Parts: sequence; C-alpha cells; structure tokens
Amino acid sequence: MKFEHICIIGLGYIGLPTASTFATHGIRVTGVDNNPEVIHALQQGKVHIYEPGLGEVVAKAVASGNLRVSPKPVEADAFIIAVPTPFYEDKKADLSFVRAAAEEVLPVLREGNLVVLESTSPPLTTEKVVRPILERSGLVAGKDFKLAYSPERVLPGQIMKELIENARVIGGVDRASAEAGRDLYGTFVKGDILLTDATTSEMVKLMENTYRDVNIAIANEFSRLADRFGVDIWEAIQIANRHPRVKILNPGPGVGGHCISVDPWFFVEAAPDLTPLIHTARNVNDSQPEFVIKIIEHLLGEVKGKRVALLGLAFKANVDDLRESPAIEVAHLLVKAGAVVSAYEPYKPDFPVAGVKMTHSLPEAVVDSDLVVLLVGHTQFKELDPRQLAAMTPARLALDTVNGWDTAAWQTAGFKLAKLGKGEKE
Ligand SMILES: NC(=O)c1ccc[n+]([C@@H]2O[C@H](COP(=O)([O-])OP(=O)(O)OC[C@H]3O[C@@H](n4cnc5c(N)ncnc54)[C@H](O)[C@@H]3O)[C@@H](O)[C@H]2O)c1
Repeated sequence: MKFEHICIIGLGYIGLPTASTFATHGIRVTGVDNNPEVIHALQQGKVHIYEPGLGEVVAKAVASGNLRVSPKPVEADAFIIAVPTPFYEDKKADLSFVRAAAEEVLPVLREGNLVVLESTSPPLTTEKVVRPILERSGLVAGKDFKLAYSPERVLPGQIMKELIENARVIGGVDRASAEAGRDLYGTFVKGDILLTDATTSEMVKLMENTYRDVNIAIANEFSRLADRFGVDIWEAIQIANRHPRVKILNPGPGVGGHCISVDPWFFVEAAPDLTPLIHTARNVNDSQPEFVIKIIEHLLGEVKGKRVALLGLAFKANVDDLRESPAIEVAHLLVKAGAVVSAYEPYKPDFPVAGVKMTHSLPEAVVDSDLVVLLVGHTQFKELDPRQLAAMTPARLALDTVNGWDTAAWQTAGFKLAKLGKGEKE
C-alpha cells in the first residue's frame, strides 16, 4: 500500500517524534493535537517537550514542508493514534482519549484508509473500542478500511534513534491490515517488522512492561532484604549477575513514568483473578518511596523540621518527564512527615510540588540542608564533584538511592554517604 499523506493524532513524546520522522522520510504529515498550546508552539517552530535530537528533526520536517499541524484530523491515507492512556485513581484504564481520537477520525475516514492505534492499551481495545467507533462510518474494518495496533517501545531519551532501529510489532484485525502497517512503518523503520493480530500486539506491549515491572520489584525487594541483613545490594547484584543465567535489574526509589508503572494495571483490571504476581509487584514498587523515607528517618532520627534537599524529581535519569515519578512521592511523604523540603529538577525547575521549594539551581536547593538526597541519576548529578557540593551546603549527610555516587570520594569530601539497599553492618 502507498502512503502520501498521513495524519497523526496526539503530538506528545510519541506522536511528535513519529510525525517528524515520517515527514523527514518524504511523507506528507498532518500532526493533530487538541491542546492549542502544542499547536501554537509548533507553529512558532518550537518543540514543547524535551527529547534529545527531536528539535532538529522537527525543524527539518517543517522546513521540508512535509509537516503541518492542525487541531483536527483531515482526510488522509492513514491515521495514527498516539494519545495518552493513563489510569484513573482506582488504577482502571482511562480510554477516554483513545475514544475521543477515534471519534475525531470517524468523519474523515474513507474507504481504503489505514488506521493504526499506537497508544498502549488493554487487551482487545482495538477490536472492542476503536473498531466499533470507526465502523459507525458504515465502513467495515478488514474489508473497507484497514485497522491495526502497533505499540511504541522506545526509551525516553533515545526516542529518535530507537524509533528507527527498534523491532516493531504490527497487529492487524486481518492480515492485510498488518501488511498495510508494515508498508507504512517500513518508510523509516530499520529494525525487524513483526506481523501478528491486533490483540497479540496489544498483549506483547503490556507483557514487555509488566516483565520489567516485576523484575524491578524483585530488585527493590532484594534492596530491603540487603538493608536488613547489612549487605550492600549493589555489590550483591553485581556478583549475582556473574551467573550466566541471572540478570537482576537495579533497585531504586520506585518505578514511575507513563508506561511501566501504569501498564501492568491494565492486565490486573482485565483479569484480576489471573494476576496476583503482577498486582503484588505493582504494590512493591509503589511502596518503595516509603522504604526511602524509612532510610531517611534512620539517618536523621527526627524528620520533622529537618531540611532535606532532593536532587531530581523526574521518573528516571536524563528525561523531563515527571509523570508517576516515585521521586515526587518521596517529596510528598517528606512534606507529610514535617520536613522542610527543597528540590532541584534541572529538566523542569518550575514544576509545582505541594509544600516543596523548587529551585533553579543546585546551590539554591542545598544552601541550608541537613541532608542531600540523590533521587534521580541525571548525568549532571552523577558527575557532581562532592568537594564542590561540600562548599555549597552545611549538610554532611547524603543519601544515594540510585547508586550514582562513589562512597570513597564522598567520604573524602567530608560526607557520610548512605545508599539505598546498603545496610550498615551491626
Ligand atoms: N512516552 C513514552 O515514552 C511512551 C513509550 C511507549 C508508549 N507510550 C504510549 O504512547 C501513548 C502516548 O504517550 P505520550 O507519552 O506520547 O503522551 P503525551 O501526553 O506526551 O502526548 C499525547 C498528546 O495527545 C494529545 N491529545 C490527547 N487527546 C487528543 C485528541 N483527542 N486529539 C488530539 N490530540 C490529543 C495531548 O494534547 C498530547 O499532546 C500512550 O498510550 C503511552 O502509554 C509512551
């Protein structure tokens, strides 16, 4: 199938890289977003999110004349839906964005079109949610138009590279739909393109993130055990991973982001009777910030009134994404415990966190601290010279939750450095 013009609905971390990459590979793209600020920024040639390399590709795409933006979908050969799929307070999937996007495609859907859902979705969403909406056009999926599900598996921070190089799975409601998807993404994807059915590809995406979540949960549980038994978890993992069939992941202050901390809940909601392990792993990871607080309590004695500086609030290193971030949960718990909390998040210095003094620089955050806590392994924090930090703060106590700092160097600089999962031998 040939594609001259495609419409991408949702211009966020996934939709904008995808839209600009298609556009720089010779396809005319209408990028659609219902947030006027996103449209306005792009019309001014600005990119509203931080992702390395994205600005350059968007600039190239706009300069080529192949990337335009619009608040509504327009007629096209193919539609890609890349809108959010968050969860509600009760951890149930919120499919309202997917439904709304499908409703917006409906009036411009034409015979022969391809529609691809990319948003991470519970099993059967393509068949049971998107298909019925689109078929209200009178056209039948798999017969009059093609319909597929293709999850995005990129790593934030490396999206522009992984978008092209990763293997991509495309699941069609029928074989022809999957093949049309392959023709479309084959425009730029260099990795293998694996064809299957829509529900399998939905499940593949959820399985990938659930697998990681469960494995991080066991690493986090190991960190608690190590703490109890006076063991250094980082050393223990390094040694265990010398076993040829063992690959333990890193523990940390919890699991966040829009994917790994959300997607396993889609399985739990869809089949609670079949998912005790997945459910428990989610609870373990969600309670890891409380473990961080316990370590802080141990270090400070009384937390109330103590000044704690938090380094990093993003959900992981070197990204500006704070969604579901466990670092923010640590901040909330500290505020609740009565600590005086300041935080420096270089990628989003103005992000509001209730009760927390957000600062625009590291010195500002640590100027009067009792304790400095490394919550996110941003490169600039990992490369921090402890002697320089010592000159910025009265604190001589530091906690590293991500194994980003070298204990000996920090001790030499005059700090007592504690690490998550490094129990003190009694
Ligand atoms: N961010 C990631 O790293 C990542 C990785 C893999 C999969 N995903 C999945 O991709 C999907 C999109 O995630 P994201 O991170 O790009 O989200 P995002 O919030 O960054 O972007 C979504 C965009 O969609 C727009 N939008 C919402 N409803 C709309 C509508 N009806 N019409 C037009 N625009 C609309 C929003 O304004 C926003 O700009 C989610 O399902 C997510 O789970 C994300």
